[in-house]
Amino acid sequence: MALVTLKELVQRAYKSDYAVPAFNIHTYEDALAIVKGAEEMRSPVILMASPSAIKHLGIKLAACIINDLAMNASVPVVSHLDHATDMDVIFKAMKEGFTSVMYDGSNLSFEENVQNTRLVVKVARSFGISVEAEIGRVGKSEEGEQLEQILTEPQSAKGFFEQTQVDALAIAVGTAHAMQRQEAQINFERVRQIQEVVDVPLVLHGSSGVPDEDLTKISKMRFGKINIGTILKTVYVKKIKEIVLNNPGLKDQIVLLKDASMAVTEIVKGKIKLLNSSGRV
Ligand code: G3H
Ligand code: ZN
Repeated sequence: MALVTLKELVQRAYKSDYAVPAFNIHTYEDALAIVKGAEEMRSPVILMASPSAIKHLGIKLAACIINDLAMNASVPVVSHLDHATDMDVIFKAMKEGFTSVMYDGSNLSFEENVQNTRLVVKVARSFGISVEAEIGRVGKSEEGEQLEQILTEPQSAKGFFEQTQVDALAIAVGTAHAMQRQEAQINFERVRQIQEVVDVPLVLHGSSGVPDEDLTKISKMRFGKINIGTILKTVYVKKIKEIVLNNPGLKDQIVLLKDASMAVTEIVKGKIKLLNSSGRV
């Protein structure tokens, strides 16, 4: 159908009772499996190249893979650069055709984050590219470890949006990246407090760790974009192991990766259902 911008998709979603699913891609096969899931569910979808995907593929190839899939997809697809902290990477991604970038200044002071985000927004606007930024910090969590994060202050979110005018704002409200179990405890009160003072499509990071019922709840609360990554990697690798163990004679990696990626498609379809984005094309 089309390669579209983030702004276009989240503007439509955030005031409605659904959110657009955003999935991390790492290889051609998992990216294809995600698009397949979105097509089967007739859902818009955001394909995100994380820093590790960029390290693996390079900006040019990541953009080629995502944009080619997008242009041949029967549903709207955004090509999004995820968690970029380096301006050079962001500007190269814009040049290579990403339709959306996330500038992640969450490790910086409020002032530096605002200043850098404003620059990204200025350049992005001239190319018609969307911008997501983060205020507060969604940290990392390994299984069993304490969630490391800094919850977003409502007044910081308000001030940050007023000064940057980003198209989507990532906030920290109880999730952490890379959770292996769906045990995140979302601070819904904090979400409400933020939404009382700022009107912008919100983004939830670290959503592999969010319980199913909370994903559905959050998708109806003016979140435009829900980021999901870890669960897809976990399921893909698990399936590859299973196929290899059960087929000692297997000699074709195309068969292996294609068959294993069906498990990714199934997870994608399940998350789309929870986010109520099925049929929103
Ligand atoms: O930016 C990517 C997401 O926040 C993914 O988080 O890998 O914990 O699902 P996750
Ligand atoms: Zn994230």
